[in-house]
Formats: sequence, C-alpha cells, structure tokens
Amino acid sequence: MSDPVVAQKGPYEIEVTADTTYAWCRCGLSKKQPLCDGAHTVTDLRPIIWQAEKDAIVYLCGCKHSQDKPYCDGTHNSL
Ligand code: FES
Repeated sequence: MSDPVVAQKGPYEIEVTADTTYAWCRCGLSKKQPLCDGAHTVTDLRPIIWQAEKDAIVYLCGCKHSQDKPYCDGTHNSL
C-alpha cells in the first residue's frame, strides 16, 4: 500500500452538516484538503467515506497518519 503524503502537520477544522456524507482524503494529494478531490487515482489509497451524525465542528487529520481516521488523534505531534 502507498504511503500517504502529509498534507498538513495538524488537523483541519471543518464544519459538517448532519446526515451529510463526506470523503476524507487518505492519500494527502487532494487540493481540497481535508476532503477528497479524486487525486488518489495515482496511488492505491482510497478515501474514507463517512457520514456526519450531527451539525458540528470536527478536526480531521491532515497528516494522514492518525490511528482514528478521519479524525486527528495527535499522531502528527510525533512525525
Ligand atoms: Fe494527523 Fe493530527 S493531523 S493525527
């Protein structure tokens, strides 16, 4: 499996809407971070599709190495 590119060494804060589906960029190549723009096709990585349960501010992993994808878990601090 390809290694993801570190898009940002820290989380992206985004506002999500309840019952809306999002695709979190796993490869790090998307120009629409932290969401997928289809750039992963040159890798064997694929986005994580998830649905927001409620309207909220969430912190999505920008380093692509979190153990709790798509959320930031602090792993970026050890990169
Ligand atoms: Fe990846 Fe925080 S940005 S773990």
